[in-house]
Amino acid sequence: MTAAAATQNELRPGFVELAYGEPDPRLLPVDAVWRAAARTLAEGGSAAIAYGSAQGPSILRGALAARMSAHEGVAVGADDVVVTGGNSQALDQALTVFAEPGDSVLVESPTYNLALLTIGDHPVEVAGLPHDEGGLDVEACAATVHALRAQGRRPCLLYTVPTYHNPTGVCLREDRRAALVALAAAEDLILVEDDVYRELAYDGEAPPALWSLDPDAPVLRLGTFSKSLAPGLRVGWLTGRADLRARFAAAGMIESGGCPSQFAATVAGELLASGEYDSHIATLRAAYRSRRDALVTALREHAPPGCDFVVPRGGYFIWLGLPARLTSRVLVTHADRRRVSFIPGGRFSTSGGDTHLRLAFSLYDEATLAEGARRLAAAIRDAQRASA
Ligand SMILES: Cc1ncc(COP(=O)(O)O)c(C=O)c1O
Repeated sequence: MTAAAATQNELRPGFVELAYGEPDPRLLPVDAVWRAAARTLAEGGSAAIAYGSAQGPSILRGALAARMSAHEGVAVGADDVVVTGGNSQALDQALTVFAEPGDSVLVESPTYNLALLTIGDHPVEVAGLPHDEGGLDVEACAATVHALRAQGRRPCLLYTVPTYHNPTGVCLREDRRAALVALAAAEDLILVEDDVYRELAYDGEAPPALWSLDPDAPVLRLGTFSKSLAPGLRVGWLTGRADLRARFAAAGMIESGGCPSQFAATVAGELLASGEYDSHIATLRAAYRSRRDALVTALREHAPPGCDFVVPRGGYFIWLGLPARLTSRVLVTHADRRRVSFIPGGRFSTSGGDTHLRLAFSLYDEATLAEGARRLAAAIRDAQRASA
């Protein structure tokens, strides 16, 4: 019997599955993880597989602190970092620790569809905020905070993906970044900054994280290795204001079991310390940049008039606007017949959203992405003919 593992999504034979925002398995660094795991056990011994400390293994926290200090313009020490089980776990834990029943959680609309599920696991109300090509509308956010307070509600946190947003691919404009952090400080609104795509920057460096603009503002910045290394490790980390970090690390689950993913987190620490992480990121950037370009070129060539999109400067996604009167929900059946998939925009929205759909360019090579764009264009034409 082999040790072949079951994975989250089954790809349908013959389909081009542009729905799945996950790394190409061929780009997962199996050999480097193998070597780092061997070193972890050889050098760490039983500590590598014992319960971990609340903040996580020091090899990882130290390496992350050095990397953030070098790249993000903020002096970070190992004690300023809390290891997490990835951004979904960290969001869930933030809600457990900071949200009271009946509180309002603010989100961009559209936002990461599965974050809506995580938030839905908690007894809170969701309030959607407008989002455009410059990212979150910060003035609308301020107005919503005030309106909720006037209704006697408590807006406890804003979940935001300001850098290479899922699903739209856009970055929050720099003036809006400063305004959002100032708003959070003034209103004592916790910003949960999901920074999952920061390393996947294809046209220059990513804009500064919200957290790095004002370490005294109530921001928790969530980083993860899911896109930059391997999602099956389930390892991430968190930086942010000391009191928020401390409450986070004191959660009951951490008291009970120590940091999540102690072994995998130590392996990630080995990969950072050895320099293999940096060279892997360079490989990913080149590979995904080329895939982004291939999908952009093919969509420009094949998509019917009325389709539009903003070229993302990083991340995994293109957010495609459909011609007038066509909805992404209606398009699903036509796309199925053409053997191509996407996620309809409504899944990312707190209301509406079906004028758009999300395409991921992470999973396939350039030629397959071009074929996917041709099939999608044909499906859009089929849908237009069917509704004429
Ligand atoms: C915006 C966003 N946040 C979080 C995640 C998942 O992160 P993790 O694997 O660290 O839980 C994803 C994965 O697609 C994502 O797009």
